[in-house]
Amino acid sequence: MTYAPFLVAALDAAGHDRRQFDSGTPALDRYLREQVSQDIRRRVAACFVALTDEQRIAGYYTLATASVPLADLPDELRRKLPRYGVVPALRMGRLAVDTAFKGLGLGGALLINALRRAANSEIPAAVLIVDAKDDRAAAFYRHHGFSPLADSPQTLFLPLTSVR
Ligand SMILES: CC(C)(COP(=O)(O)OP(=O)(O)OC[C@H]1O[C@@H](n2cnc3c(N)ncnc32)[C@H](O)[C@@H]1OP(=O)(O)O)[C@@H](O)C(=O)NCCC(=O)NCCS
Repeated sequence: MTYAPFLVAALDAAGHDRRQFDSGTPALDRYLREQVSQDIRRRVAACFVALTDEQRIAGYYTLATASVPLADLPDELRRKLPRYGVVPALRMGRLAVDTAFKGLGLGGALLINALRRAANSEIPAAVLIVDAKDDRAAAFYRHHGFSPLADSPQTLFLPLTSVR
C-alpha cells in the first residue's frame, strides 16, 4: 500500500475550497459542496479532508454515530459483546477521492485515518460501518478487511477492537 503525502484535517467550511472537487461521483461532490457544512453545524456528521500542499482537497470522508443490531454481527464477534439489542457504531457515510489523485493510495490512507480516529475516540464504538454505494465500493472495503452485515450486505463493518 502506498501513502501519498497529504495532510488530513477537519474540514474548514469557510477556508477550504470545495468547488473544484471531482470524484467522478456527482452525488459525493455535491454533498461536499452543498450539504456537508449544514450537517456539521447540526452535529449530525463530521468531515475530514486530505489536503495537498496547496490546500486543494484531494479526498474526504465523513463520520457519524450509528448503531448496529447485535443479531447482524457474526457469532464470533457477538460472543465478545454484551447482549444488548444494538451495538454502538460509527458510520463512515462517505469516502471519495478526487479523480486527479486516484490510485495513489489515498483512499486506503483515508480509510485507515478514519479507523484510527474511530478507535481512539473518547466516545466508544464497537464497530466502524460503511455504506457501499455499489459493488465496486463494496469490493474496495472487502479488500481492506470489512465484512458485510448479515441483514444488509451493502453495509460492511470492521470491529474497532481489532484496530486498537
Ligand atoms: C473507492 C475510492 C475511494 C478508492 O480511492 P483510491 O485512492 O483510488 O484507492 P487507493 O489507491 O487508496 O487503493 C487502495 C487499495 O485498494 C484497492 N482498490 C481500489 N479500488 C478497489 C476496488 N473497487 N475493489 C477492490 N480493491 C480496490 C487498490 O488496489 C489498493 O490496493 P493495495 O493497497 O493492495 O495496493 C475512489 O476510487 C473513489 O473516490 N471512488 C468514487 C467514490 C466511491 O466509490 N466511494 C466509496 C464509498 S461510497
